[in-house]
Amino acid sequence: MPNATFHFPPDFLWGVATAPHQVEGNNTNNQWWAWEQQEGRIAEGHTSGLACDWWEHAEVDFDQAAAMGLNALRLGVEWSRVEVAPGQIDTAALDRYCEMLQGLRERGIEPMVTLHHFSDPLWLTEQGGWLHPNVVALFTRYVEQVVRALGEFTTLWCTINEPNVYTYGGYIGGMFPPGQNDSRVGFAVLRNMLRAHAAAYNRIHRLQEDARVGLAHNMRFFDPVRPRHPLDWLAAWVRDLGFNQTTIKAVWDGWWVPPVALGPAFPLRRTLDWFGLNYYTRDLVQFDHQAKGDFFAQSSHDPEAEILDGDYGELYPKGMFRALKQLARMNIPIYVTENGIPDSDDDQRPRALLLHVHQMWRALQDNVPVKGYYHWTLTDNFEWAEGWTLPFGLIELDLETQQRTLRPSADLYAAIAKGDALTPELLDAYAPELRDVILPG
Ligand code: BGC
Repeated sequence: MPNATFHFPPDFLWGVATAPHQVEGNNTNNQWWAWEQQEGRIAEGHTSGLACDWWEHAEVDFDQAAAMGLNALRLGVEWSRVEVAPGQIDTAALDRYCEMLQGLRERGIEPMVTLHHFSDPLWLTEQGGWLHPNVVALFTRYVEQVVRALGEFTTLWCTINEPNVYTYGGYIGGMFPPGQNDSRVGFAVLRNMLRAHAAAYNRIHRLQEDARVGLAHNMRFFDPVRPRHPLDWLAAWVRDLGFNQTTIKAVWDGWWVPPVALGPAFPLRRTLDWFGLNYYTRDLVQFDHQAKGDFFAQSSHDPEAEILDGDYGELYPKGMFRALKQLARMNIPIYVTENGIPDSDDDQRPRALLLHVHQMWRALQDNVPVKGYYHWTLTDNFEWAEGWTLPFGLIELDLETQQRTLRPSADLYAAIAKGDALTPELLDAYAPELRDVILPG
């Protein structure tokens, strides 16, 4: 039987990713909390509630991460906790974040701090949210407070998580607050978020000499149903442009491209020290002249593909490789800042994890500068509009008791992280069916 071990560099970061509103609990001062109280907004009427109780007991999960041999963890700061009213800073909240970061350091875990992950302070929402004429200045003022307080414990900053998903969810698809369906408004929001990213990039560098600042971007693949059909191809290209490329063009190349805008975005150019890739899935796209509101396209899944729970999408690990190859042109460090699947009974996750890690290894062989991987996520958390129905955790959470139970994937990930490698033994133990896929011959 063919045997090969896929090695990773010894300084590779093996981490998990989280977001404040999804794990902290009782984040009552942001727009998501308000949204969750409205009927019909969240699957099965769920609310975030106590979530994973991180505000009080994040250390329980830090211990789990350390025991798994992880050396990195991405967590966020909740703007609405830090700046409780315009200009009013809660220093006790900043102290708690310092304590968390210190706790990670003490466990040998390098923190990456996200400054915005979907949730906005209610006071900002009441003044128009990301359409507020001064939102860029408001965001950078908050960022400055956080960097001054937390800078002692980290230099690795992620400004904004997925401006494209925030915009799509809130202003185009409408399943996130404020539940609008107006792409023109959405693109204005996206432009402001990207401007705010650039302003935060500059501000952080002014405050911290050795700061490493990036952005986490969700890349989804859009492939034509009929690859040689020009209209399907065009429909897929338009989706790719609108969802994936506009952000990269703005913050790397310094250009606004349609459909977001057209023209120079010079102040945004090269505002990345590293790129954060959040990769989950892909869509097949078919032209549909009636689907005007959807940019003339219908999305579907490959009938051959393995579909993820809750119809989350196709299991499409090759997208990891394709995305990394595309991003390599920037020639800056890349972190996979999120990747994972919803899978309560863990019957797909070990396979998915092995396949995605393997695709990442392939990219490394092609000299793509991938420096780390943050699995989404450590412990089941509040999955936005899907509530608690899509558990992404390596660890299962019992919401009632806060009890944690490791899924087999947690042991698998621990073994990969501890050995900096994907071995044939792990394939045999966790997904023997992959031998022919990963080790053919
Ligand atoms: C978001 C996470 C979310 C994950 C899984 C990402 O788009 O950043 O907050 O939980 O996807 O759906």
